Amino acid sequence: MLSSFRADGNLVYIKKPNFDELDYVAELWADEETMNDVGGVVSFPVEKREAWYRKMVNPSDGKNFYCLIYTFDDVPVGEVSFHRFDMEERKADFNIKIQAKYRGKGYAKEAMQLILSYYFCDFGGQVIYDNVINEKGKKALQNFGFEIVSKFDNEVLFKMTKERFIELLNKK
Ligand SMILES: CC(C)(COP(=O)(O)OP(=O)(O)OC[C@H]1O[C@@H](n2cnc3c(N)ncnc32)[C@H](O)[C@@H]1OP(=O)(O)O)[C@@H](O)C(=O)NCCC(=O)NCCS
Repeated sequence: MLSSFRADGNLVYIKKPNFDELDYVAELWADEETMNDVGGVVSFPVEKREAWYRKMVNPSDGKNFYCLIYTFDDVPVGEVSFHRFDMEERKADFNIKIQAKYRGKGYAKEAMQLILSYYFCDFGGQVIYDNVINEKGKKALQNFGFEIVSKFDNEVLFKMTKERFIELLNKK
């Protein structure tokens, strides 16, 4: 597992945060407008951060991978990550959040491209899943090219395979 990681796009770059950048994670999760779409705000007290950082950002078991998304002015605008990587099936769960005030600028699309390139081409992922309940999230994943696996009530399970990701890359 890489102890440091950064990948650059045209609008944003994604990077594993340093420990002192977790103040932004707390701000993001406390932002009501941002978190309304994903079930509400989450508190992130200082005493929980060390254990969280060890598990999510620098995990020895290689199951989680977490980046913040920054503009080239080094302003953090959201998070993108994958979790619960399963070595046997080479699958994981996807997550992306753009802070509400920075939405609609193409940041999510580019950050998805950057982390999925790493996941499929370097990390060894074969497939990635995301269970989404909110409409903006569904639109963003669908427009990116994720496929729908199943629908239940308002919950949609999306997936992207390595083959499909590479096919989409070649079309661009
Ligand atoms: C979903 C989310 C990440 C999109 O972030 P964003 O930076 O505004 O998205 P982008 O500007 O990169 O747009 C990505 C695509 O989604 C579409 N989209 C984004 N917001 C939309 C909205 N409110 N209505 C319709 N389409 C929308 C865009 O048109 C774009 O499609 P295109 O590539 O075909 O042009 C953001 O709204 C968010 O953080 N939502 C809460 C968390 C979430 O749902 N995450 C996704 C599931 S884990």
